[in-house]
Amino acid sequence: MTKLTKNTTVFTLNNGVKIPAIGLGTWQASEKGAAHNATKVAIENGYRHIDTAAGYQNEGEVGQGVKDSGVPRDEVFITTKLTNEDHKRVAQAFEESLKKLDVDYVDLYLVHWPVSTDPVSKKPFDDWDFVDTYKEVQKIYKSGKAKSIGVSNFTVKKLEKLLSDPEVDVIPAVNQIEAHPFLIQPELTEYLKKKGILIEAYSPLGSTNAPLVKNEVVSKIAEKNGVTPTSVLISWAIQRGTVVLPKSVTDSRIIANLDTFTLTTEDFEALNKINETFGTKRFANPPWNNFDD
Ligand SMILES: NC(=O)c1ccc[n+]([C@@H]2O[C@H](COP(=O)([O-])OP(=O)(O)OC[C@H]3O[C@@H](n4cnc5c(N)ncnc54)[C@H](OP(=O)(O)O)[C@@H]3O)[C@@H](O)[C@H]2O)c1
Repeated sequence: MTKLTKNTTVFTLNNGVKIPAIGLGTWQASEKGAAHNATKVAIENGYRHIDTAAGYQNEGEVGQGVKDSGVPRDEVFITTKLTNEDHKRVAQAFEESLKKLDVDYVDLYLVHWPVSTDPVSKKPFDDWDFVDTYKEVQKIYKSGKAKSIGVSNFTVKKLEKLLSDPEVDVIPAVNQIEAHPFLIQPELTEYLKKKGILIEAYSPLGSTNAPLVKNEVVSKIAEKNGVTPTSVLISWAIQRGTVVLPKSVTDSRIIANLDTFTLTTEDFEALNKINETFGTKRFANPPWNNFDD
């Protein structure tokens, strides 16, 4: 039987800031009280990293959950994100996030998507460029109110455009992207490694209702090791050198998702190659975003 341990892995971002490898995801933790309870339970049981976003509409509950855990603010890594509708008002939106979280800084502030949308029509603005958005986020980093900054859902092409702008002088610390054995994105992964940008893996279980836990290869590895398929997927992500953000609003799952183990090289490689048999799967693919560009 494989020994599971509460994961305490910490990665170092390109600006020297430390980030715990497992962060609690909070997207769709939207029922009243759910994000508060999940955050509090997570921290009480050893998590030190919570991932929220203005768009999840639960920053208030997350902030309260951090407080009610009794763990000091400076021991918890809090990430929030700029929503698409706020690209033309970054400074105000950031202050609103701080207020809801009731904190005076965040550990990581991300551009949620490289798309600026009209709050009324919900359609992308064509007079706005995500590079301008990032420049505003850069100002927040320089003010000290975000200890690190980064992006999310950025492709190589979009990062190339961002990094080649002469006014961009803070390399994003992370790119938060969908990542699991069915979406390993080798080219983007290699590019990010070269640039010193850490991957944060979202939807590690395949998102809503965790469909990936049912895959036969994942299940077989789990069975062989006497662990759950969830542990296999979370352990794989960390072994791959990425931050991983499993979401749950269920106390027992939140607690279990912090338990990881080291996969054998054989099992690790089998997961790396899973898409050769089962194909590539992307779960987050909103119509207003273009992953080919
Ligand atoms: N930057 C972005 O654009 C972006 C996009 C998507 C996600 N994210 C971030 O990444 C986080 C994770 O992604 P996600 O929410 O899409 O999906 P996920 O973490 O892959 O999966 C969440 C689903 O798995 C279930 N689950 C969790 N632990 C389980 C366990 N031990 N056994 C069985 N089922 C389990 C959850 O159920 P219950 O909650 O009912 O327990 C929920 O239905 C998000 O919450 C968010 O913070 C970011």
